[in-house]
Amino acid sequence: MGLEDRDALAALQAAVYPLAHSDELIAKFYTTWFAIDESVRDMFPPDMAGQRAVFAHALNWLFGEFVAQRADEPVAFLAQLGRDHRKYGVTPEHYKTLAHALYATLSSELGSAWTPAVEDAARQAINLIGGVMSGAAAAEQGPAWWEGTVVEHHRVSRDLAVVRLYLDRAMDYHPGQYVNVEVPQWPRRWRYLSPAIPAQADGAIEFHVRAVSGGMVSTAIVAETRPGDRWRMSSPHGALEVDRDAGDVLMVAGSTGLAPLRAIIMDLCRFGVNPRVHLFYGARYPCELYDLPTLWEIAATNPWLSVTPVSEYDTNPPWAAEYPDPQPPRGLHVRQKGLLPDVVTRYGGWGDRQILISGGPGMITRARDALIAKGAPPERIQHDPVGG
Ligand SMILES: Cc1cc2nc3c(=O)[nH]c(=O)nc-3n(C[C@H](O)[C@H](O)[C@H](O)COP(=O)(O)OP(=O)(O)OC[C@H]3O[C@@H](n4cnc5c(N)ncnc54)[C@H](O)[C@@H]3O)c2cc1C
Ligand code: HEM
Repeated sequence: MGLEDRDALAALQAAVYPLAHSDELIAKFYTTWFAIDESVRDMFPPDMAGQRAVFAHALNWLFGEFVAQRADEPVAFLAQLGRDHRKYGVTPEHYKTLAHALYATLSSELGSAWTPAVEDAARQAINLIGGVMSGAAAAEQGPAWWEGTVVEHHRVSRDLAVVRLYLDRAMDYHPGQYVNVEVPQWPRRWRYLSPAIPAQADGAIEFHVRAVSGGMVSTAIVAETRPGDRWRMSSPHGALEVDRDAGDVLMVAGSTGLAPLRAIIMDLCRFGVNPRVHLFYGARYPCELYDLPTLWEIAATNPWLSVTPVSEYDTNPPWAAEYPDPQPPRGLHVRQKGLLPDVVTRYGGWGDRQILISGGPGMITRARDALIAKGAPPERIQHDPVGG
């Protein structure tokens, strides 16, 4: 039966279900894998909690798809994951040792649930997962990663930096997509960042980074990145987009969540006629609305764009004096005070709009919930995966 045995597959899914103590099983899997393949340990960060969570999440989703007897989506996901994993230097041998370790862990941890039928399903599922990932990786002709050199680093506010690079070879991405980035200050700590400009044929690329409190990589980028630093990045992901034939657009950008929306807006500038786009751009303090001058320039020549700046506080903190004043010339909407989800929904539910939300995980969730509560149809709301 193997992959057709839904009960056996459901038993495997239950074993890796993230909310039901599967962390112990996943931890045993990694310990087993690192013991049988020493070359693997150094590829992962010392603290494996995050990795255990994403791995359990991926396996749980995959087994759920297998239980539902769906093949297209899991195979497409695994193929993309395999192509992406090339950036970590994964080899076919790694897939073999992973398969041994996963099989050994499941067989020892499932206890009485490890029946011949479950064993059969586990063997076939593990073979399928490794086979699709390694096969897609081997078949991919494109580069495993892109490298680029930092040419500018602007500390535009205490916690914000704009970083410009030239990639050694241009990357083709859709405006609004994001990439996984590795910086020299924190080798092997890949983080997602969204290019703030559309893809350029000469390899120019720009990122806007906010240092999150206690954050390892973001604080290093904001405080320590220098021209000459070499960054590595993986192939683009994400599906944020404006359908130019699907009506007017509401965009909600919290801090550097502006980056992908700005890339989309810049791309729209190629067209003479566009749907109306209303962008709410929010930050804690007025001085943190670092990109207002650029947005003002775009809005000044593109009548379809209107921008409402929003800040949580009305006045600036004392440290604002050390950074450039982002006050644009008159012409944008008057700055609103409050939290983005509250300010945006003061204007209604925006039910007739395509809605794109981008920012920190808390803001995305609150803005989405607030808009739905005001009547916005959930299927018209887009945002990147929350977290990561
Ligand atoms: C699809 C996607 C696109 C992204 N694009 C950008 C971008 O263009 N610019 C940008 O600055 N960041 C972006 N991020 C966030 C970025 O990937 C990192 O998560 C963030 O920089 C924190 O990394 P860190 O290593 O500094 O923090 P970590 O050391 O990983 O975490 C430290 C603490 O900060 C919390 N934390 C993590 N991320 C956030 C966050 N976004 N907001 C608030 N608290 C957080 C963690 O829960 C933890 O408590 C994006 C994230 C995703 C998922
Ligand atoms: C069952 C097959 C596998 C699954 C489902 C899987 C899943 C994942 C996921 C979801 C992530 C986080 C997102 C990402 O970076 O894409 C990840 C990261 C990673 N994976 Fe895998 N993976 C598998 C096999 C492998 C193999 C064979 C290796 C080889 C060593 C590997 C090495 C890594 C590394 C190094 C990271 C980054 C860890 C970090 O920097 O935090 N993975 N994996």
